[in-house]
Amino acid sequence: MHRASFLLLFLPLWKLPRVAALHSGKWCFAGCELALNYADFNDTDAGSKKIRSCQSTLRATSLYLCIDEYCDERGRSEWLRVSNETCIGIANATLPPYDIIAGYSPQERAEIRRLSADEALTYPTAGEVLIPEESFFERAFTTLEAAYFEVDIHRVYGWCMYYFWGIVIAIGMGTRLISLIGSIRRQEWQAIPTSETSIEEPHPSKRSQPPSLAYALLKRFITVPATFNNRCSQPLGWCTIPPRIQSLTILAFIVLNIVLCTVSYRVTHGNLYWPQEHIQLWRYVSDRTGVLSLANFPLIWLFGTRNNVLMWVTGWGFGAYNNFHRWVARVATVQAVVHSVGYTVMIYERGGWPLFTKYLGKHYFWNGELATIFMCLLLAFSVYGLRRSHYEIFLTTHIILSIIVLLTMYYHVAIFIDGEWTIFIYPCLVLWILDRALRALRILSFNPQFWNTKATATYSASCNLVRLEVPFTQTRLQQPKPGTYYYIYDLSNPLYAHQNHPFTLAFVTSGRGRATEQGTTANTNADAAAIPLRRPSSSSSSFTGNSDDSASTEADALLSPSPSSSSPGRTPALIFLIRPYSGFTSRLAKLAATHTHAHAPSSLRILLEGPYGPSAPLHHYPHILFIVGGTGIAVPLSHLTHLLSSSSVASLRIVWAVREHAFLAAVVDEFARVLEDERVVLDAHVTRDEEGKDEALDEGEGVRGVRVEAGRPDVGAVVEDAAREAGCERLAVVACGPAQMADQARRACVGVLGRGYRGVEYFEESFKW
Ligand SMILES: Cc1cc2nc3c(=O)[nH]c(=O)nc-3n(C[C@H](O)[C@H](O)[C@H](O)COP(=O)(O)OP(=O)(O)OC[C@H]3O[C@@H](n4cnc5c(N)ncnc54)[C@H](O)[C@@H]3O)c2cc1C
Ligand SMILES: NC(=O)c1ccc[n+]([C@@H]2O[C@H](COP(=O)([O-])OP(=O)(O)OC[C@H]3O[C@@H](n4cnc5c(N)ncnc54)[C@H](OP(=O)(O)O)[C@@H]3O)[C@@H](O)[C@H]2O)c1
Ligand SMILES: *[C@@H]1O[C@H](CO)[C@@H](O)[C@H](O)[C@H]1NC(C)=O
Ligand SMILES: *[C@@H]1O[C@H](CO)[C@@H](O)[C@H](O)[C@H]1NC(C)=O
Ligand SMILES: *[C@@H]1O[C@H](CO)[C@@H](O)[C@H](O)[C@H]1NC(C)=O
Repeated sequence: MHRASFLLLFLPLWKLPRVAALHSGKWCFAGCELALNYADFNDTDAGSKKIRSCQSTLRATSLYLCIDEYCDERGRSEWLRVSNETCIGIANATLPPYDIIAGYSPQERAEIRRLSADEALTYPTAGEVLIPEESFFERAFTTLEAAYFEVDIHRVYGWCMYYFWGIVIAIGMGTRLISLIGSIRRQEWQAIPTSETSIEEPHPSKRSQPPSLAYALLKRFITVPATFNNRCSQPLGWCTIPPRIQSLTILAFIVLNIVLCTVSYRVTHGNLYWPQEHIQLWRYVSDRTGVLSLANFPLIWLFGTRNNVLMWVTGWGFGAYNNFHRWVARVATVQAVVHSVGYTVMIYERGGWPLFTKYLGKHYFWNGELATIFMCLLLAFSVYGLRRSHYEIFLTTHIILSIIVLLTMYYHVAIFIDGEWTIFIYPCLVLWILDRALRALRILSFNPQFWNTKATATYSASCNLVRLEVPFTQTRLQQPKPGTYYYIYDLSNPLYAHQNHPFTLAFVTSGRGRATEQGTTANTNADAAAIPLRRPSSSSSSFTGNSDDSASTEADALLSPSPSSSSPGRTPALIFLIRPYSGFTSRLAKLAATHTHAHAPSSLRILLEGPYGPSAPLHHYPHILFIVGGTGIAVPLSHLTHLLSSSSVASLRIVWAVREHAFLAAVVDEFARVLEDERVVLDAHVTRDEEGKDEALDEGEGVRGVRVEAGRPDVGAVVEDAAREAGCERLAVVACGPAQMADQARRACVGVLGRGYRGVEYFEESFKW
């Protein structure tokens, strides 16, 4: 008994005849075969057991008699045909025709010796025709039926991962479509001028219909809040907690995986493969977790790529998918560990460590062990602490380890069921290659001569900021949109040329010394509407770009173009405002600083990959409040002109916490004309930098919409004021700043939603993920 199960425990399921569908008839024929395989018929002595079983007439006769006794004839000839072909393939022998048993009378059949399970498990040598006892046949039949039921249900549950995410994505697309239709309908209402109101000044009641109570409740309790504790951008120890809606999705996914790993196990009594029931269960659980882990692989790759189709169709940002990426990977790793532990336990129980060592010699086996180990390492090297403190180390190990995992996983599953499971490996490779290709395409679409993209970097010590100016010729492929970001590669040092970091496009300057905002769909050529790049006092140029083009001589070092680049006829440029931190950004700052001292902007060769990111549909909101800190100002700057060109925007407020007066001065300088628009208010809160104070206050005085205060803004109060002013109209709150600030803004939005301001919507432009 024990020897039998020992041998059969690891009888590879994939080597049994493959079945197209669950058809009890199949398991009946195969059950007869399984029962008779215990006997060694001695009417042939050629080669291996497999070859002997193809050549033995005693065996074939026994098999046919068994089938005739226990099985429905439906499907029989097909099964025999397949068995015959298998024999021709492996033994160059054909099975005798089925009618060799036609001559057996019922009398003769009744006299044929019956093979009992007890006898069969001694592996008898047989010199005569045998028929398995009915109870023995039943055990063989249920063994097969249960085992193959499991094989099929593993596969079905594997595909459930895709149904789950399919539903999630469908919900995302659905809500996006509904809000799109809603905004189109609002625009239609606006387009009907009444006797009192014109198109330019829509009546408030037409301008915005408050959303339904159900939608407001959804926002208040599900989509806007942090999962708990008002911590969303801020990490909790070594963890980051996604927003509530994402956490709920992830929770549902985890629950689904737990359920699918715990149900539908058919443990049968007297199982011939795995007589001990706990071993049977281990085997099924290990296979289930293995299959689910593998099925999750393409999802991990899909959610982790920069160019993810799902981002385009749902409008959810990289951050959301990155959270899904992490959690699917964690679930898959836990499943892989259970799978490996299960097989280790099974092998150890049967043959101890010597047997385990023997298994380690098998190619598929050690590859599987390595895949699990490397998946665990991958998880360990992805902890938030390392990601934050050593981003490049994290990224490099992440890529190397994921290649190793994919390779070892491939070799682990390639031999099973004719390589069927590799259908979960190839999509990972395809997604990865596609992502890299699209990255390359984005680089090329920005500049076909990608190796020759020149940029100028200027470092301002007083602002502690690098201004990166990238001239470009507008192509049809890429059109800078407000709120999008680009990955920047710095090619000046080949050692670091592969490193690329995301930066939000702050604004676009046009030729002839003017700046134009990105995203005005009507006017995207180089001569489009422009923002002056000089102090307001120094020229009378207007924001709409109908000015003379004299460049300012007292241009601010930070935001104004360098003398050479501001000469008439220069090409338009993308402007990035970059805060130096420790890695990539500090090298950029050093590079820029060395040249800036020499009063010439530093010219460097870069690659620009973009634009990325869904552009928040802010122009659908009559009231917009930006709450930003430091370089987060890039987000409102990028939207500013585009929003003000829309008649549906009634008020736009920017609350900006900034450390350096000089930074504030430079922005006010650059955007003076835009800030003169009566709908705009800029509340600047200068939190440090006492010496520069007077200068900034002077700056603020010159411009209508600018108010300068000292100390941090009270984010909660700001949101409440804005909600009160908006009343029942729709208000978009956009946060981009330090984590604490963003979390406060999120919390305040939940608060005002709870107080009945249904029109409030929260957007977060995260600077990290
Ligand atoms: C969508 C987006 C837009 C951004 N826009 C701007 C901007 O307009 N101006 C600006 O000054 N900064 C912006 N940032 C932040 C900027 O990308 C980081 O400051 C920069 O990557 C830091 O790199 P470092 O090596 O110099 O700093 P490090 O000190 O090595 O890293 C600082 C922090 O940045 C994170 N980080 C590093 N590299 C990346 C990366 N490639 N992707 C995501 N996170 C990373 C790290 O986890 C760490 O928390 C933006 C970030 C994102 C995600
Ligand atoms: N290494 C990194 O972690 C890293 C790298 C790049 C970007 N970023 C992120 O990018 C964003 C902008 O970076 P930055 O360097 O340009 O910013 P910054 O110069 O540090 O400016 C942030 C401003 O926000 C204020 N502030 C912070 N918390 C606040 C709160 N809870 N309420 C009100 N005001 C608050 C700060 O005031 P005080 O002066 O009083 O603090 C400061 O004026 C931030 O989210 C930053 O975390 C981080
Ligand atoms: C199979 O067997 C036949 C005779 O039975 C022989 O002629 C043939 O060469 C064999 N084929 C192979 C591939 O061994
Ligand atoms: C197997 O194939 C041979 C030759 O093709 C044929 O004669 C024989 O009847 C087949 N056996 C069965 C059981 O179908
Ligand atoms: C086959 O085995 C039976 C029973 O063990 C024996 O009686 C018979 O002689 C054997 N025949 C051959 C050809 O070895």
